[in-house]
Amino acid sequence: MRTNGLLLVTGLVLTVGQGVEAADNAALTDTKAAYEAGGRWYTAEDIPTFKIAEDGTVDWPTFSGFRRYNAECFQCHGPDGAGGSYAPALEKSVMKIDYYTFLDIVVNGKQEVNASQNLVMPALGENPNVMCYLDDIYTYLRARGSGELGRGRPQKKETKNDAFAEAENSCMGS
Ligand code: HEC
Repeated sequence: MRTNGLLLVTGLVLTVGQGVEAADNAALTDTKAAYEAGGRWYTAEDIPTFKIAEDGTVDWPTFSGFRRYNAECFQCHGPDGAGGSYAPALEKSVMKIDYYTFLDIVVNGKQEVNASQNLVMPALGENPNVMCYLDDIYTYLRARGSGELGRGRPQKKETKNDAFAEAENSCMGS
């Protein structure tokens, strides 16, 4: 059943436009986890974020984001969000563009055309392997960009909780 995933994608596209106006600059660098809902952490401004314990244990969604980034973004954007020869370093991008702009670019794509280059960020809005994990990828990149998560595979992670598993299953339609 793909219907659920596609419905979710439509919902996201609709919220993107509203969010761009509502976003405020303080949220750009604020990665502090304020509350948990549905198995993931959010900032006080309701932006998905990571939570890393003192011993380095990362929250499950952030670990999931590491895996999904490597499956869907790595080939162009390079290891650890650090940038490739073809596409920019997303660990830096996510600290400069707001959450809603990030969603908009991934859903709809982006194309830079000038005399010296023709770079294309593909529109990934219909790919459930991206859309169902986009908040995970975002929090992973924010963890990298804030400097709180080092390069490579996170060594310690929390286990997947029921709320996350439920949301994942309904998004992927399984
Ligand atoms: C086929 C190669 C390719 C893949 C795969 C890809 N990207 Fe991109 N992406 C690009 C290119 C090239 C650009 C630069 C486009 C531009 O500047 O107009 C870009 C730009 C972006 C930007 C804007 C960055 C900025 O600073 O303006 C974001 C955000 C982004 N990509 C997120 C992602 C995410 C998240 C994934 C994985 C789910 C992904 N991309 C997968 C090629 C890719």
